[in-house]
Amino acid sequence: MRSVTEILGTKYPLIQAPMSWVTDARLVAAVSNAGGLGVLGPNAGQTEVTDDPMITAERMRQELRKARTLTNRPIGMNILTPEPDQSVADSVFTAALLKMAYEENVHHFAVVGSAHEELFADIIAHDGILIFRPLTPTVAQMRAGERLGADILVATGSDEGGVMPRQDFGTFTVVPAMVDAVSTPVLAAGGINDARGVRAAFALGAQGVYIGSRFLMTEESPMADNAKAAVLKAHFSDVLRVSPTQRSVKTPAALKYAHRYRNNDDTGLNHEISINGGLRPGMLLGDFERGIISVNNGVDTINSLPSVEALIGELMV
Ligand SMILES: Cc1cc2nc3c(=O)[nH]c(=O)nc-3n(C[C@H](O)[C@H](O)[C@H](O)COP(=O)(O)O)c2cc1C
Repeated sequence: MRSVTEILGTKYPLIQAPMSWVTDARLVAAVSNAGGLGVLGPNAGQTEVTDDPMITAERMRQELRKARTLTNRPIGMNILTPEPDQSVADSVFTAALLKMAYEENVHHFAVVGSAHEELFADIIAHDGILIFRPLTPTVAQMRAGERLGADILVATGSDEGGVMPRQDFGTFTVVPAMVDAVSTPVLAAGGINDARGVRAAFALGAQGVYIGSRFLMTEESPMADNAKAAVLKAHFSDVLRVSPTQRSVKTPAALKYAHRYRNNDDTGLNHEISINGGLRPGMLLGDFERGIISVNNGVDTINSLPSVEALIGELMV
């Protein structure tokens, strides 16, 4: 089996996970310069909303080019899989981003969703390195990803920040089960915030780590300063379930969503968070009346705001 560093062309088997609204050129270039793989997430470097796929792709092209002025190491892009019954062409955001990525010679694709034959074949035909993270990890999805040619698989525990898997199984359950089910290298994701977490991932059989939340808490991260301060202060008991698949550190908006979630009024909560701007108001703009702060539930182990280089040095000892 090829090692993760050989596949990725990086110093460390470490990927900075794509995160909606809160990645940008500066953050991803810092990760790639420090020996990991930086990955641009949706709306990277943006502050304004657009629902136009072409504008989305052009903005991403500019951010990618900006990142490349800051590093000559590889940079990845996030791709959402089309729905199982949808073609790539019909998934207009995915199609526009892929076209741009091929034009710009992007090779590293952090693909999230469910294994999609046409998409995988397309990326492979363009010489892409395919890092597949089933949104809800199951043995069947990991094996489907492997069969369709994924180079690296990511096993995500429900400890993670962002949109959580549909099933509530933690990293300690999911990672060893997935490692045993496939022969493709597996990265562990979900709740890894310090060197202990990285060592635990390796002990569970993972060949590397896929880390999101912890990179938000760095000097280079574009997350709003008051959101960083709120995460620094938070304990795990302050991380509330605000919908069937999202958590947030306590904010006025999160408290309202959480109240409704607890009272079984969860119909439409994800949709409502989304039409209220998703992660943009709380995390990028620091508007806690309107927004949530999505991070993993291991916040007790996030106690500093180091540079990306210092953080990677601490994680990968
Ligand atoms: C704020 C935030 C936004 C996220 N947005 C995305 C996204 O747009 N696309 C995606 O593939 N994953 C997204 N994720 C999930 C991450 O890629 C990754 O799976 C997760 O952060 C790993 O768990 P951790 O946060 O415990 O490190 C997001 C995670 C966070 C914390």
